[in-house]
Amino acid sequence: MIEFKLNGQSVQSDSPEDTPLLWVIRDELKLKGTKFGCGIAQCGACTVHLEGTALRSCKTPLSAVAGLNVTTIEGLDSPQGDALKKAWVDEQVPQCGYCQSGQIMTAENLLRQNPNPTDEEITEYMTGNLCRCMSYVRIHKAIKAAAGGGEVSS
Ligand code: FES
Ligand code: FES
Repeated sequence: MIEFKLNGQSVQSDSPEDTPLLWVIRDELKLKGTKFGCGIAQCGACTVHLEGTALRSCKTPLSAVAGLNVTTIEGLDSPQGDALKKAWVDEQVPQCGYCQSGQIMTAENLLRQNPNPTDEEITEYMTGNLCRCMSYVRIHKAIKAAAGGGEVSS
């Protein structure tokens, strides 16, 4: 049995230690905001935070989070996260929506590390989060707006 905290709540799983964290979050603990895209750490759809740092839950074994704090999009609660969520709505960023929780979880880490990123820094930091719908321009604009450095369209 492995215990960890998920969005501030203690949870347990008796899945094998090498079970991907993503399966535990979605299938056992029934939080569906974190998505399965590629399963090989190449797309970012499964991004969650472990002790505040973004990581790919599809390639993270359950054993790696024992006793630690995991945050998903459902539990994201920070000034940067709040600003991003507002900007995402203001900019109407999502198309199909599938990649979006991973995008926001990654962007939150960017803004915590670098409150006023340049365009180049945003592009570089977000490059590993793919969007099949090509909403990259709106994602970029929303991150700028959340950082206070961009215009939110009216
Ligand atoms: S599903 Fe984890 S990176 Fe694609
Ligand atoms: S909004 Fe559809 S994959 Fe990004």
